[in-house]
Amino acid sequence: MSKVYVFTQFGGPEHEELQERPVPQPGAGELLVEVKAAGVNPADWKIRAGHLGTDRQLPTAMGLEVAGVVTAVGDGVTQFGVGDPVLAGVPAGNGGFAEHTLVRAAEAVAKPEEVSFTDAATLPVAGTTAYDLTHQVELEPGQTMLILGAGGGVGLMAAQIANVHQFRTIGVAGEAKRELVESTGATFVASGDGFADRVRELAPEGVDLVIDLVGGGVLRQAASLATEPGRVVSAADPAVVDLGGAVRERNPEALGKITGVVEYGLVNPNVTATYELQQAGQALAAVEAGHAAGKTVIETA
Ligand SMILES: NC(=O)c1ccc[n+]([C@@H]2O[C@H](COP(=O)([O-])OP(=O)(O)OC[C@H]3O[C@@H](n4cnc5c(N)ncnc54)[C@H](OP(=O)(O)O)[C@@H]3O)[C@@H](O)[C@H]2O)c1
Repeated sequence: MSKVYVFTQFGGPEHEELQERPVPQPGAGELLVEVKAAGVNPADWKIRAGHLGTDRQLPTAMGLEVAGVVTAVGDGVTQFGVGDPVLAGVPAGNGGFAEHTLVRAAEAVAKPEEVSFTDAATLPVAGTTAYDLTHQVELEPGQTMLILGAGGGVGLMAAQIANVHQFRTIGVAGEAKRELVESTGATFVASGDGFADRVRELAPEGVDLVIDLVGGGVLRQAASLATEPGRVVSAADPAVVDLGGAVRERNPEALGKITGVVEYGLVNPNVTATYELQQAGQALAAVEAGHAAGKTVIETA
């Protein structure tokens, strides 16, 4: 048997629990992974709350990104074998907050030795999102990128990628995250009332790309700072399209690319909180509170 963290009904965190299930068997093209670490994301609680649809089988296993060791492979898998360390996104419902899970071999990446399981577990969701958003609109070195929610899991990685490309980066976040944001090379701007004016003072000519990780009114206020409406991309709010911008577009190569960048030490996923699998509820609650600094990871083994 194998432990897995699930929710049994759509709604609040009171429907979450740790269950036992038989170790799953890999189907064609799948890897069975003994999970070492799993990243926690806002999407985990949004799925449980029913914000992303309610047509899932219950109980639903939680957790969307893992790093671990392959313990069995399904038919047709040639690129990985038993014992290989990998990282991968977890298909919805397979459950990353677990001792074992199933991932698609075609979407997994070999974990470099230089990258810990804990750091690797932050790359399939948060890392690829940061990679996609920073590459979706091409900028030249010296151009200005504004990141809303710069102190969170995605924002800190996006700011570091921007630094690698020598963009000028302005990061909007809560005051408590000033040092973290500045550690990426970005200029810190405090969030809250008047943030758009504070950005305008720093970039009176406008910003060349807005990366939104907050949405709602914050996104609407920031959109007018972009030099053109098409230079706004969001992972947090589909309403960005109504403002002339775009939602995140997934690049299938993003996981390999961001893994390489982390391997070479150019991006630190900034894991600031780790929990054991038995504490998955606490880990989720910390992310659900909405003020996470860097990444939260559940370490399974
Ligand atoms: N579409 C996709 O594929 C995809 C993938 C990954 C993430 N996402 C979404 O992207 C968003 C960010 O994800 P994440 O993993 O980075 O979340 P996270 O780690 O929880 O970080 C969110 C950050 O936003 C900050 N924030 C909240 N209100 C703010 C405001 N008014 N101004 C500036 N910052 C504010 C929070 O801290 P403070 O409040 O302390 O500043 C926190 O640091 C979430 O909505 C998530 O669902 C989407």
